[in-house]
Amino acid sequence: MKTIRFGIVGTGTIAHRFAQAIRNVPGVELAAVASRGKQTGDAFAAEFGIPRVFVGYETMAQSDAIDAAYIAVPHSGHCTCSCLMLQNGKHVLCEKPMAVTAEEGERMFRAAKENGVLLMEAMWARLVPGTLKMLELVQSGVLGDIQSVEGKFCYTMDEDEMDHHVFLPEHGGGALLDVGVYGLHFAQWYLGRDVRTIDARAVLYGGVDAHTCLLMQYANGAIADLSAAILLRKPNEGYVYGSRGYAHLPRFYAPQQIELHLHGQETQTIGTPYAGNGFEEQIAHFRDCVRQGQEESPVVTPSDTLFVLRQMDAIRKKICVRYPQDSASD
Ligand SMILES: NC(=O)c1ccc[n+]([C@@H]2O[C@H](COP(=O)([O-])OP(=O)(O)OC[C@H]3O[C@@H](n4cnc5c(N)ncnc54)[C@H](OP(=O)(O)O)[C@@H]3O)[C@@H](O)[C@H]2O)c1
Repeated sequence: MKTIRFGIVGTGTIAHRFAQAIRNVPGVELAAVASRGKQTGDAFAAEFGIPRVFVGYETMAQSDAIDAAYIAVPHSGHCTCSCLMLQNGKHVLCEKPMAVTAEEGERMFRAAKENGVLLMEAMWARLVPGTLKMLELVQSGVLGDIQSVEGKFCYTMDEDEMDHHVFLPEHGGGALLDVGVYGLHFAQWYLGRDVRTIDARAVLYGGVDAHTCLLMQYANGAIADLSAAILLRKPNEGYVYGSRGYAHLPRFYAPQQIELHLHGQETQTIGTPYAGNGFEEQIAHFRDCVRQGQEESPVVTPSDTLFVLRQMDAIRKKICVRYPQDSASD
């Protein structure tokens, strides 16, 4: 079967994690890296033994050295870089959040369709063994009716990183887009999409949200309680509560362990370790979609991604965070 040749766009933190993971996945290879600078591109290529370096993203998009691109630039570059690759016939795995606004996301999926290639948000957490196991447990009914979820993803950036893109509105900065995106996907996995109300509270910092708390209520009465922060540490964990018990999930969106507390029973702990650093499963899934000629992932679907992007647009209106990418009519 055909080996899928990946090119990475960007050489930052997450590009490193992807480059480590791809080594462990059969049927894919890291064929190229594209960087804004020659030195950064060469250094990254040397570190991971990558045969081709492109200076500038467009040259890699236009080359026939790759079949697929992994977009690992700040959120503000996701739409432009993805569209560039898609329009040149490359499949795209794009980092989260896939776009800064839902309008950008819609544009990206249109570009994928028009060019007959696959576009998938790199929502790796949906594909790790812990999430698959949790979904299986919920579907089996062991927890009863799911009535609530909680998830906190709250960390602190260092004081000397205040010029980082996560603090800048022009890059789609702030906690909601950076880490709140995981909580919104998580709530969607277990409670669906029939959200009736969203209460949102945020602490703003220089035009972006440093700490955002959300309470969402669904048509069936279920409630999601989510927190995201980039300047406040909270335990990074979550819960799924049902009528027959609850699951406690350390690192809730991608748990490597599930603690099941069923009414009247001893606590059970189920180990669900990653195959590697957590990215291997999404790379293998993306490879399989490309090989099968699928233009959408049946697991991380365009409608899942767009649903969360629309929620983030709506939540930002409530907490008064605006980006240059928002249209004048918003
Ligand atoms: N899935 C996850 O667990 C996870 C974790 C962290 C981040 N992410 C996502 O990955 C994306 C990148 O985050 P990161 O932490 O890797 O960022 P980063 O360390 O700052 O790296 C971003 C890279 O993008 C390129 N770039 C292009 N335009 C840029 C600009 N205007 N400013 C800065 N860099 C620019 C740079 O590479 P060149 O100079 O070589 O072109 C840079 O090294 C974000 O969207 C983030 O949400 C995902």
